[in-house]
Amino acid sequence: MRTSEETRVADKQATLDLGGQTQEFPVLEGSVGPDVVDIRKLYGTTGKFTYDPGYKSTASCESALTYIDGEAGVLLHRGYPIGQLAENSSFMEVSYLLLNGELPTQEDLDDFTYTITRHTMVHDQLRQFYQGFRRDAHPMAIMCGVVGALSAFYHDSTDISDPEQRKIASHRLIAKMPTIAAMAYKYSVGQPFMQPKNELSYTGNFLRMTFGVPAEEYEIHPAIEKAMDRIFILHADHEQNASTSTVRLAGSSGANPFACMAAGIACLWGPAHGGANEAALNMLQEIGSPDKIPHYIERAKDKNDPFRLMGFGHRVCKNYDPRATVMQQTLREVFEALNVNDPVFETALKLEELALNDDYFKEKKLFPNVDFYSGIILNAIGFPTTMFTALFALARTVGWVAQWNEMISDPAQVIGRPRQLYTGPTERDYVPIGQR
Ligand code: SDX
Repeated sequence: MRTSEETRVADKQATLDLGGQTQEFPVLEGSVGPDVVDIRKLYGTTGKFTYDPGYKSTASCESALTYIDGEAGVLLHRGYPIGQLAENSSFMEVSYLLLNGELPTQEDLDDFTYTITRHTMVHDQLRQFYQGFRRDAHPMAIMCGVVGALSAFYHDSTDISDPEQRKIASHRLIAKMPTIAAMAYKYSVGQPFMQPKNELSYTGNFLRMTFGVPAEEYEIHPAIEKAMDRIFILHADHEQNASTSTVRLAGSSGANPFACMAAGIACLWGPAHGGANEAALNMLQEIGSPDKIPHYIERAKDKNDPFRLMGFGHRVCKNYDPRATVMQQTLREVFEALNVNDPVFETALKLEELALNDDYFKEKKLFPNVDFYSGIILNAIGFPTTMFTALFALARTVGWVAQWNEMISDPAQVIGRPRQLYTGPTERDYVPIGQR
């Protein structure tokens, strides 16, 4: 990550003319992608704020983790294309890459995997924590609560000023999310929690903790283990999305990493964000058959109808989301491995075909995103729809942790505190109730 400001200042300035008062601002350039106008001194020099609800034109930070070119359908993690990582790498290796900036040697990867594996158990008292939830609690409600509670169990890794404690907390979070997610599922179906087994892979361990039972050995299906590992890779990080920005903002106040990740989980749950995978499958099942698709596409285009095609559209991806391409390919592999064929897949393919040939979707550059096909795969593997976003949170934890570490270790880091355009009443005197 380039730290010298001089190397980032482009050889051009931005001039702002505020009715006779002009002010120049430096333009900073990254290694690739749009330049940014550095307006950090705007308010101090002009008394004006910028205004950008939803941050559609705002870079909130400098980062070296993930680059997205939404127009070109490009997604790079530390420079490596998502398609190459999905094809050749593993979730543990991608996690190492995001955290450390370079692909690991075999020895590095073995050491990292050994460390993560030996943090997969949770404090036994935490198992009691689940008893407070109703059995039908949404797994994301449980994840929010349990991950936030981790700071009550792991006090020895909450001092964010200590790089070693940051490292241990990071490893604990990455390692324990599969255990916590699997426990949420087990609790919902009334089955006993399964302890992790160190000889299994990260993803194999998760599958066994989720679908295994104490009464018999659980046989991990290699094709399913590979598909799930790839799905985790596809969800690992995605630049400054809403939940990552939530983690960064929470972390900017000095909150402990467990609390920050709980904030990220809460944000991810929304149907406009990570909750879309659950909503997309529900939508596809509601549509039912391809002949009903035109009606739903018309609903999605109707401004008076709140219905949207879930799993479609994206703030940044204005081309086909490269993750959706890999997801669809993975779906075919899982169907073949399990010898299943869910008619919902045909509905999804037909919906994609009709939407991508519809002028409304073409004009607004609405394409399938990472959430459009993922639910069909997860449903085929045996996850209930309510677990889909919990799986997204499991995988995105490494991205949140890597982004949080990048922010905390930046010497220029300050608390995030946006301003506003105030449109409320100007000052007025209190009126006693008898005179109102
Ligand atoms: C994720 O940011 C990330 O990187 C997120 C993510 C990650 O990895 O972290 O990629 C994961 O959250 C993927 C997105 C999952 N959400 C969904 O699939 C929900 C459905 N999509 C929409 O809600 C919407 O597309 C958003 C929320 C994803 C993006 O919304 P924007 O960028 O604010 O765009 P918008 O709502 O302003 O839409 C632009 C136009 C609007 O029409 P106009 O007002 O201009 O006339 O497109 C329309 C919208 O009505 N539109 C849709 C639509 N999405 C946008 N119309 C129908 N169906 C849709 N899905």
